[in-house]
Amino acid sequence: MTTKFPSHINLSRETRSELIDMLNTNLATAVDLHWQVKQAHWNIRGSHFISRHLLFDKVADHVRAHADEFAERAGALGGYAEGTIRLAVKNTELQEYDLSAVNGDDHVRVVVDRVARYAASVREGIQRADDLNDPVTADMLTQILGVVEEDLWFLESHLYGSATITREESAPSAIREEPASPNA
Ligand SMILES: [Fe+2]
Repeated sequence: MTTKFPSHINLSRETRSELIDMLNTNLATAVDLHWQVKQAHWNIRGSHFISRHLLFDKVADHVRAHADEFAERAGALGGYAEGTIRLAVKNTELQEYDLSAVNGDDHVRVVVDRVARYAASVREGIQRADDLNDPVTADMLTQILGVVEEDLWFLESHLYGSATITREESAPSAIREEPASPNA
């Protein structure tokens, strides 16, 4: 049971508990993703450096704002927000950042993959909130997903025409991480 605080919202404790668990999973994923995108922001080099450096920062800012929304909705439902870095490591849905990424396209591919996984997690959350008859959580997640999917479009547009992503394939399965450079 993950409800910790009293709530006068007229949903059963069991329902609120399930919503809180889902929100905490998304919170952990957002905390992880925020710092993964910052990792890309800090370490990217190569062509289109400035535009990609700035785009990553914008995406990271969005994800950080989403983390706040997940945490505060969990709180409103009587839950305890699990948002520390260590809790995020335990609960995130993402793989660790690809530390072998060097050039700009490598970083964009990793970020597209992680943002696509995040988008899928938020979409699953919308379905879960719908199933649990909580339109407020579903609406909040829907608003968030609109931002995430727009960011995904901006990011994946950087890979258009590249050999590692095609129009027919959809992320994240289309994104193939390159092997580490033998000189890295
Ligand atoms: Fe910065």
